[in-house]
Amino acid sequence: MDSGERGAGMVIDPQVLDSLRKKQPLLWLNSGLEAGADPIPGLDPALAEQRLARYAAPLAHLFPEMEPTGGRLYSALQPIPKAQAALQAAAGMPAAGSAGAGTGVGTGAAGVGVWLLKRDDALPVAGSVKARGGFHEVLALAERLTAEAGRPISAGDPMQLCGDTVRALLGRHTLSVGSTGNLGMSIGLIGRRLGFQVVIHMSADAKQWKKERLRRHGITVVEHSGDYAAAVDAGRQEAARAADIHFVDDERSRHLFLGYAAAAGELARQLQEQGRRVDADRPLFVYLPCGVGGAPGGITYGLKLRFGGHVHCFFAEPTAAPCMLVQLAAGVDKAVSVYDIGLDNVTEADGLAVGLASPLVAPIMAKMLSGVFTVADDTLFRDAYLLAQEEGILLEPSAAAALRGPLWLRSTRRGGDYLDSHGLARTMDRATHVIWSTGGSLVPSEEHARFQARGAQAAA
Ligand SMILES: Cc1ncc(COP(=O)(O)O)c(C=O)c1O
Repeated sequence: MDSGERGAGMVIDPQVLDSLRKKQPLLWLNSGLEAGADPIPGLDPALAEQRLARYAAPLAHLFPEMEPTGGRLYSALQPIPKAQAALQAAAGMPAAGSAGAGTGVGTGAAGVGVWLLKRDDALPVAGSVKARGGFHEVLALAERLTAEAGRPISAGDPMQLCGDTVRALLGRHTLSVGSTGNLGMSIGLIGRRLGFQVVIHMSADAKQWKKERLRRHGITVVEHSGDYAAAVDAGRQEAARAADIHFVDDERSRHLFLGYAAAAGELARQLQEQGRRVDADRPLFVYLPCGVGGAPGGITYGLKLRFGGHVHCFFAEPTAAPCMLVQLAAGVDKAVSVYDIGLDNVTEADGLAVGLASPLVAPIMAKMLSGVFTVADDTLFRDAYLLAQEEGILLEPSAAAALRGPLWLRSTRRGGDYLDSHGLARTMDRATHVIWSTGGSLVPSEEHARFQARGAQAAA
């Protein structure tokens, strides 16, 4: 079907559509972006922040890897001056000055601002951004199931979460999830440690090592030959037939969404600690890899509620799977997938290999997201290689998708249009650019070696 006929009268710009179909990397700007951002009833990130804080002590007990942060989910926010300089130089931009770019607290070189990497690739237990949604989802479910069984975990004694009674109770329930890999790892590894049985429905894109790791932890992995949406659907249908199976719906879950949104508070505290204010003269730009949209959408929602028009969020999607771009560009009143415009959804970025955006998240992003840029697979590998060479940081390909975000804004005509139309050009030397890095620390070393070899080849 011609996408021009979709979306109740709203059409994708023919030039954009042509570039999308040719898999030419592009920056798309969201004309539906609104200046402010209002909370949506029933979606309060503070509830997720409070729930995660309430269970910090039992989490530190159950997950020794969370002891250093007292059971709180936390990832570093670090400057990447060498990678910034290398990418800016490659784009013909002025080099970052030593003032600021290296410390994360100064102003950076004229007109370029400071790039910071948000290290969710190193989040504990799940090794990806999916830990945020996963922890919140599983904790909320444990609370509900214990309450329904007449044995609620008392607010005054959250350590009951680790006790035999709760464990035995949760062990009678099965968690099920459809995943391209990382959500399954998150829900699986967290759920098992709390005592749940777990079944993961994996799409054809899921990597073998992720399946093996899950099986080693006593998790049932069901392999599907279809894509992510098919795996999700299989899980949803199985759960509908059994009362003790609880399906974690990556396309629609509010608990997942709020777990991601809680990251906004953490980032706000880190920026404050690093002396980086966010206001009309010091804008914040955030670049996030997008699959179905839950993780980047939740984080964007949390940030927009905190910083309003002073934060500008952009998603990064593979050229073969730009599902959020396609959905937003076509209008959100009718589902439009990447297949509908002739794309194949085949990408090495397994976490981002999603054909259809979340129907929960897309309408929210229609008003809050500044834009989306697309990335070719070769660039993902090249940037993962560059980050390893320049900064010693190893990411999985999906997680490197956002690295060029600042370049799209500073060195392209469309990026310039965005800055001009928002009166931002004069503020760019004081801008903070946060690049969200979303996965990598659990990747086996032989996989990293393969990614690096492909990146070196692409860079040659
Ligand atoms: C490494 C990585 N980055 C980003 C994402 C995107 O998250 P979402 O699918 O919620 O948009 C995923 C999803 O699995 C992922 O695995």
